[in-house]
Amino acid sequence: MIIYKEEIDSTNLEAARLSESVPHGTVIAADAQTAGRGRRGRSWVSKRGENIYFSLLLKPDFGPEQASMLTIVMALAVAHGIEAVYSCKPQVKWPNDIVVNGRKVCGILTEMQVETGAIKHVIVGVGINVNQMTFEGDGLTFATSLQKETGICKDRKELLDAVLKQFWQLYPEFCEAGTLKPMLQVYEARLANLGREVCVLDPKGEYQGEALGINEQGELLVQKADGTTEAVYAGEVSVRGLYGYV
Ligand code: BTN
Repeated sequence: MIIYKEEIDSTNLEAARLSESVPHGTVIAADAQTAGRGRRGRSWVSKRGENIYFSLLLKPDFGPEQASMLTIVMALAVAHGIEAVYSCKPQVKWPNDIVVNGRKVCGILTEMQVETGAIKHVIVGVGINVNQMTFEGDGLTFATSLQKETGICKDRKELLDAVLKQFWQLYPEFCEAGTLKPMLQVYEARLANLGREVCVLDPKGEYQGEALGINEQGELLVQKADGTTEAVYAGEVSVRGLYGYV
């Protein structure tokens, strides 16, 4: 089921408000958001009529420790969906940015509610810059849109359908395995950070190293100069390229 709103504060917030009354798999999509939310408390600029803003409400049987991996599953679905519609090959900047020509076209914000140790719901919120041509403001230095990068103006519904189709192909594989194992290779083939020097912005202390890939839990494996390897959990951490955004 897709619930469409002309304007909403945030599709993630609306999905949370509706969570008790709508079924697993419901999509809340909006033409504009007045309080779009990004990761780590940032806002998500959500202009009217140009982009895709949607949230997928899931009520999975698995445990809370698996929920963050849904960001990776959705990132792959978005990359595959974009490729199907635009015939370009987007990459993924771990964990949740989709990039085209080294610039960000999509971000994903996964939020969950847990009660007595079990998931009540997970909301996977996705913002895709589709036809927006100008980006001004703080934090938008590396932002771009699919139209800017490919020169092609596409119908947003076509792309939304393509992304959801890809997600529903990947989701059962993920649920059955309980890990990202079935999609590790395809993810790493798209991983923009792979083999690059990255700076891990961990609230407990920053460090640098080479990104080696991800493990089955979706953690980024970073080899430090002393030869040890850290498994970086997405949570509060973000990763920057040492020589630019990726
Ligand atoms: C990020 O890269 O910081 C994540 C951005 C996620 C934005 C989307 S737009 C649809 C959904 N509703 C929100 O308020 N945020 C997500």
